Amino acid sequence: MATQQIAPRPLRPEVLELEGISRASVEAHHKLYVGYVNKRNEILEKLESVDRTSANQVYSDLRALKVDLTFAIGGIKNHELYIAHHGGAGGEPTGAFAALVQRHFGSVDAWRTDLHATGMAARGWAWTAYDWDEGRLFNYVGDAQNTFPVWNATPLVALDVYEHAYFLDYQTDRAAYIGAFFDNLDWDVVNGWVADYGIPG
Ligand SMILES: [Fe+2]
Repeated sequence: MATQQIAPRPLRPEVLELEGISRASVEAHHKLYVGYVNKRNEILEKLESVDRTSANQVYSDLRALKVDLTFAIGGIKNHELYIAHHGGAGGEPTGAFAALVQRHFGSVDAWRTDLHATGMAARGWAWTAYDWDEGRLFNYVGDAQNTFPVWNATPLVALDVYEHAYFLDYQTDRAAYIGAFFDNLDWDVVNGWVADYGIPG
């Protein structure tokens, strides 16, 4: 079966005009994202003909390809979320997501404080996701594109805290960047995901 190649999504113009996050920073994310898409396509193609008889847990081509595929796919999914929910007016969450936050964190302030702190504790990402088994929202920490999501959880907010996300605009002041992140979120997009996935309120 031939590998299904995918193409990167183009940047929407409004995402290049954020408050407190420069065009250069957004373009850096997108450049990396295009690289993840290309590597995902390359890895899947190589997996079609890899030698499965030499599979080995210490080192093998199969292992290397499958491990790094998760990094590439993580980089794609994380950045598609990040870019898609940017370009809005930010501020307080609205609608169904606001109701979910109220229910599972007690208040918007508690959710925002925890997500900010989770972003400060992470080496790559922080996500607000709905865990379908536990039936609640939680702010998860990630150190790389492929760590540490859990099964059967749906991410609704994706905060990139890799250095490329803030060094151009804030040097080492990650906290200031996280403030700008919240200022640009598009709650209509997030609420659209809540509706599309049928997350119960
Ligand atoms: Fe990024």
